[in-house]
Amino acid sequence: MNELESLKKELKELNTQYAQIRDIAPEKRGAFGRELNERKMAILEKIRVAEEAALDVAVEPLDITAPCGVNEALPTVYPVFQGSRHPLMTELDRVVSIYQLMGFDVMESRQLDDEFHMFDSLNFAKEHPARDGYDTFRTEEGLIPPAHTSTMQHRVLKAYRDKLAKGEEIAVVVPGRVYRNEDVDATHEHTFYQCEGVYVSRSCTLGDMLGILREFFEKYYEQKLNIRTQPGYFPFTEPSLEFLIEKPKALGGKKGDYLEMLGCGMIHPNVLKMAGIDPNEYHGFAWGGGIDRLVMLRYGLMDVRHFESGDLRFLREFK
Ligand code: DAH
Repeated sequence: MNELESLKKELKELNTQYAQIRDIAPEKRGAFGRELNERKMAILEKIRVAEEAALDVAVEPLDITAPCGVNEALPTVYPVFQGSRHPLMTELDRVVSIYQLMGFDVMESRQLDDEFHMFDSLNFAKEHPARDGYDTFRTEEGLIPPAHTSTMQHRVLKAYRDKLAKGEEIAVVVPGRVYRNEDVDATHEHTFYQCEGVYVSRSCTLGDMLGILREFFEKYYEQKLNIRTQPGYFPFTEPSLEFLIEKPKALGGKKGDYLEMLGCGMIHPNVLKMAGIDPNEYHGFAWGGGIDRLVMLRYGLMDVRHFESGDLRFLREFK
């Protein structure tokens, strides 16, 4: 019998002694009861400590160099009931699977990138003030934690360009974590998530892009939506647009209440050219927007800082 079991046995025996109160002289009952209660409290405390210790079992170290047996049971470090997925990850999966159903491939972005992918490959002229607009962090080595998922456009175009020669189109989405060195408040975080979309074919148009975006937002919010665009500026698209949706009534919106959801446009010929794609033969469109904002609207959240706060009260709302 282990310690916990013997403590529980002791508690059970003690509980039976309460019945003896009846047979004790009335003037002695008080002292008898008090003593029983004290002993009971002491055992309960020991049980609590033993139970806590039992949860704290030694974890066998994982051999991370061992070959992966895909058919073997996964090692469990923490029991599942002690954790849950972060709501942003659940929503990111929803976002990606909507695009996958439309035929898009998925490529993940990276957490450290370079000047070339952040700016040059996206047609930002050297010294152009638009570079400052992104408030990038920099490591001492000069690397950049990406400030947008557009850093992946050049890689996507190069990795997929052979499809074009086969008469197929490029259709890829890139979810990723992005970083900006800006003051944090209820609507701005230094760390957030974006999803980028890249599409290239011989004959695609802005109309096709708006169709894809409408379809995406209507699937995500599970209702018909009014959409609108307004002119924008990004060095990597021409023309550049901002894409807005009318805030649905069910989510507290009033008529004419339009929210900017993402930036988009036809991929600039220089961006295609730099990735080895002939802009006279092929056209593309691209878009990128924040996931946090998307999720906040869906759940009526007022403060983006909840996501990175690690506050369990917030996280448990989504379990
Ligand atoms: N990367 C832009 C941003 O974070 C958004 C964006 C605009 C992405 C236009 C695109 C695009 O792919 O074509 O502000």
